[in-house]
Amino acid sequence: MKDKLIIFDTTLRDGEQSPGASMNKEEKVRIAKALERLKVDVIEAGFPAASPGDFEAVQAVSQAIAGSVVCALARALESDIDRAGAALQGAKRPRIHTFIATSPIHMQRKLRLTPDQVVERAVAAVKRARRYTDDVEFSPEDAGRSEEDFLCRIIEAVIAAGATTINIPDTVGYSLPHEFGALIRRLKERIPNADKAIFSVHCHNDLGLAVANSLAAVLNGARQVECTINGLGERAGNAALEEIVMAVKTRQDVFPCDTQINTREIVPCSKLVSSITGFPVQPNKAIVGANAFAHESGIHQDGVLKHRETYEIMRAEDVGWSANRMVLGKHSGRNAFRTRMRELGIEFESEEALNEAFARFKELADKKHEIFDEDLQALISEQIYEAEAERVKLLALHVCADTGEVPRAQVVLKIDGEEKRGEAEGSGVVDASLKAIESLVNTGATLLLYSVNSITTGTDAQGEVTVRLEKSGRIVNGQGADTDIVIASAKAYLNAVNKLLSPSLRKHPQGADV
Ligand code: KIV
Ligand code: ZN
Repeated sequence: MKDKLIIFDTTLRDGEQSPGASMNKEEKVRIAKALERLKVDVIEAGFPAASPGDFEAVQAVSQAIAGSVVCALARALESDIDRAGAALQGAKRPRIHTFIATSPIHMQRKLRLTPDQVVERAVAAVKRARRYTDDVEFSPEDAGRSEEDFLCRIIEAVIAAGATTINIPDTVGYSLPHEFGALIRRLKERIPNADKAIFSVHCHNDLGLAVANSLAAVLNGARQVECTINGLGERAGNAALEEIVMAVKTRQDVFPCDTQINTREIVPCSKLVSSITGFPVQPNKAIVGANAFAHESGIHQDGVLKHRETYEIMRAEDVGWSANRMVLGKHSGRNAFRTRMRELGIEFESEEALNEAFARFKELADKKHEIFDEDLQALISEQIYEAEAERVKLLALHVCADTGEVPRAQVVLKIDGEEKRGEAEGSGVVDASLKAIESLVNTGATLLLYSVNSITTGTDAQGEVTVRLEKSGRIVNGQGADTDIVIASAKAYLNAVNKLLSPSLRKHPQGADV
């Protein structure tokens, strides 16, 4: 029997720390459900002490998830741990993950604490976390640049205090694979009570080595890897879950362990995260990039046609690429629709919600003959966004783009219940439409990102638009989908505007006052 490699997903916590990737509570629950379908062992749902929004999101994920452990992050502070414990109250299997920095530079310059004080705080934090759950993880932040003797000392102390997982983060992505692997091996050999805890790793990708470092650690005894979908995360990101899982699966001749991940859910989950965060996946990205299984050169195509394994080490369908198939059409009934939604993890709270979604589905099926899973996900996103979009609603949009004429747009919005009309010119119809909307809502926000993606293939595909707006340091993402990309753009802009108009749930800068 091989060992189990625990997959700890931190898309909702470290992934959300990517600038611009903020997600609201409903979006986090949708991603958590997709992660549960993927069968990740642990979902790190957020950092409850960071903001009321994070607290509520961890609470909501705790209530929604039964199949995975739900984890909350906390600094080594009583108040943080109590917030994490409270947020996890509804979780079936809660974990508290507490951390404190251990590198000389972090202890001296950021924490202004002596090594003795750091050990004392870490031990106290783990003991306090054990009041809430038996499943406690400890991370010595910036372990990659910490002194090894000190790491041994603090890790031995926190295991004695009740930590059951020891996570070694390469916080700044500084390590190289051979040295990081050797560090894990030596820590496990040198710490007398190391056998009482699972060793985990959490690698950042500043030098493009997050996956390589994580795999080197696994070869040297780590049995949990912390990673994110599409490698999202602080700065250059974290180790990509899909790459870790598929490397371990594909090279079972080398790895002494395996994961329980349902790999067929990888691509659908990647698409959902990309659409919610507005972070596109580069076409040449391993496993989940659009070209990951495309063969361009004639020699390769010929080889694959003769024998697939000449140029392919994995099967596209094993990571979920075949998911992009026709599932429903114009003549599909309400039952087929509800069943497929259920398979996608979407349950309707009431018959009215189901009826509303079904009506939208019929409308879409009139415009587009084949409805794919991705279309259904977009449809649900829209229903959720519209339910949130209380203050400003799109009633009508008219655009004019004759050749040689300046493009114009006229828009009718309902703002706080009052109908308003606006119009504007622009460099194209999208530009004119967004300007017409802005002339009525007057947010004064800066547009940081505008991107259009085709959800499926064909010219009748829905265009999915992401808009990122920034106002006074607050960044929000808006999404909209429609077979007409001008309408999709207006919907996305209004979705972002409505988020900007909702009360700010600002975060504390992480670690600033540890
Ligand atoms: O990168 C890091 O050190 C972290 C810790 C909180 C584990 O994200
Ligand atoms: Zn991190």
